[in-house]
Amino acid sequence: GRVAVLMGGSSSEREVSLDSGAGVLAALRARGIDAHAVDGIPALAKALAGGEFDRVFNILHGQHGGGEDGVVQGLMEALGMPYTGSGVLGSALAMDKIRTKQVWLSLGLPTPAYVRLGRGDPGSGPGQAVHAAACELGLPVIVKPSQEGSSVGISRVFDDAGLDAAVALAACYPGELLMEKMVEGDELTVGILDIGGTPRALPSIRIVPKGEWYDYEAKYVSDETQYICPGLEGEDEDALGALALRAFAAAGCRGWGRVDAMRDRDSGALFLLEVNTAPGMTSHSLVPKAAAQLGVDYEELCWRILETTL
Ligand code: DAL
Ligand code: MG
Repeated sequence: GRVAVLMGGSSSEREVSLDSGAGVLAALRARGIDAHAVDGIPALAKALAGGEFDRVFNILHGQHGGGEDGVVQGLMEALGMPYTGSGVLGSALAMDKIRTKQVWLSLGLPTPAYVRLGRGDPGSGPGQAVHAAACELGLPVIVKPSQEGSSVGISRVFDDAGLDAAVALAACYPGELLMEKMVEGDELTVGILDIGGTPRALPSIRIVPKGEWYDYEAKYVSDETQYICPGLEGEDEDALGALALRAFAAAGCRGWGRVDAMRDRDSGALFLLEVNTAPGMTSHSLVPKAAAQLGVDYEELCWRILETTL
């Protein structure tokens, strides 16, 4: 049947999604699938009302017209339209870093200590409360919007003087903000792919950015970011994969995704950061690199993700 490759949309990650979507579209077509690009949720709604498609490959990133937050999943559920990736609950929860952390903590899964900086709560704006939060966690900290992706709006803060600017930047994006204790060590990510009804962890990737950290530039522009796959060895790698699978399941996710984590340089302890339910599929992206390590090329990966709709 005809497949809609849902991409673009209106989130802060629109450009990334168009890039991911172009790759997915070309790969599915190369496999002989009758795939078509659909830009954004309103266009999808129209096409689905017209009965144009039988399945949807969702590669929208982000929230608010993004399509990674459960909204478009609800539309597709209501219409009985098969789609790739997580459902309403998993998508909505994973889009919200604060609530994802609350679920993990309630299950005893490790995630860095944090303080929620509610928008509009008394005393939560830039100023006193922010400094108190940093004091509680201990510098350095990371300040981020709870519901963005691709490191949009994120700052690393090493001294008190940097706090207000970091909060002001994160506050440019909708939703709540969080301040998280910075884990100093290795940045790791684990792709998850459902194969035959069981989610499997792909080999992890350790990210070594050329600059200070893995920001938007290092993610999509730089060719100097180094990716080491598998990211860890032996038992450590197995433990990371198992933790990622537990984190993915705890967040109610399914189909495919990517779990981001940190490993403390001194203690070796692992900390979960977030789950991405529609991870990037650009030429710089991580899930394709992890799949390649298993001998699954980009075309086959796209086809396998599409198969998870069945
Ligand atoms: N949010 C981006 C697309 C990622 O996680 O890959
Ligand atoms: Mg993300």
